[in-house]
Amino acid sequence: MVRLMTVVIRVDPNHPDPESIARAADCLRRGGLVAFPTETVYGLGAHALDLAAVQRLFDAKGRPANDPLIVHVPTFDGMSTLTRRVPATARALADRFWPGPLTLVLERSDRVPGVVTAGLDAVAIRIPSHPVARALLLAVDLPVAAPSANLFTRPSPTRAAHVLEDLEGRIDMVLDGGDTDVGLESTVLDLAHGTPTVLRPGAITIDLLRTVVPDVIYRSAVVHDGEAMASPGLLAKHYSPRAPLTLFEGPADRAIGALAAEARATMATGSRVGILAPREELDVIRTQIGPSTFSPHVEDAGSANDLSEVAQRLYAALRSLDAAGVDLILARTVSADDGLGSAIRDRLHRAAAGRVVVC
Ligand code: TXA
Ligand code: MG
Repeated sequence: MVRLMTVVIRVDPNHPDPESIARAADCLRRGGLVAFPTETVYGLGAHALDLAAVQRLFDAKGRPANDPLIVHVPTFDGMSTLTRRVPATARALADRFWPGPLTLVLERSDRVPGVVTAGLDAVAIRIPSHPVARALLLAVDLPVAAPSANLFTRPSPTRAAHVLEDLEGRIDMVLDGGDTDVGLESTVLDLAHGTPTVLRPGAITIDLLRTVVPDVIYRSAVVHDGEAMASPGLLAKHYSPRAPLTLFEGPADRAIGALAAEARATMATGSRVGILAPREELDVIRTQIGPSTFSPHVEDAGSANDLSEVAQRLYAALRSLDAAGVDLILARTVSADDGLGSAIRDRLHRAAAGRVVVC
């Protein structure tokens, strides 16, 4: 791959200057790759109807061709050319949650290139709310395909430095609008195949969706209490830190005990251990590990009483653990499985890729 000069442009997250936005829009129009902040995570944008641009996007991320992209548009009308049919439920959900962290999977029109949807008969569409994303989409006036702006299998980026860590020299431009707000990717809701089904949980929670569409269902990719995995493919290497991550679930006292024992045993072999746990558990974990020759690298996952904070910090914490060069990550998760807790657990389970200890 040709090494590019990646231009970084700082923008005010609330009031991006029109000149910077025009530069980024022009780059997209000419087939370039531009990373930009959304309210969830940074996206890597490409002109969705330009086959060469979409191919460059897959190449830059190292993303397999069978993983479809979300198409971003600035307004509800902007999606009329992308889909064959807009069901009444889509309109109702759009009225309530767009612009915002919700992606709708709808029947695809012939205008959407097959490479964008990985050959599927449906297309994923989202109207983001971040002022920079909105300004860019309005200026470019084209549908923009934008996956998270990370290398395939790396955690999604929540700040421009994460984008550069993975993609510097592989993309044309980054609009740096500071840290993203939500920190986890959008909720993906399939409206194209019968019963409305959540494919990926996010900040628009199942409970919120049910206030508009009561029959929404969720097929969790998360394993509960050792039950068989419904679809192992769903857990295939995703959102992974470089070091293997083991997740400790169950009642706090038992799970903390098991995590501390594992940390002690691993450190005794000379391996470097990273720990990710809610703020309230950190002191207990340190006490239980006790004195040892090496100390673990500890990341504060945020307060267990503030799931928005946990979501916002998660990917940056995984990247810090990688940067610290740990050999192994031992993680605790939040206990709530409703609301945002469900999205947080989903991402941690994917990062653990099956290494879950239920205590
Ligand atoms: O918050 C987000 O959604 C971010 C920002 C940048 O908008 N984007 C993002 O894109 O997370 P990506 O490519 O990393 O994740 C897209 C997800 C994948 O799980 C993909 O399988 C699913 O959406 N998806 C895309 N098109 C689909 C389709 N036609 N049918 C079913 N799932 C689809
Ligand atoms: Mg992604």
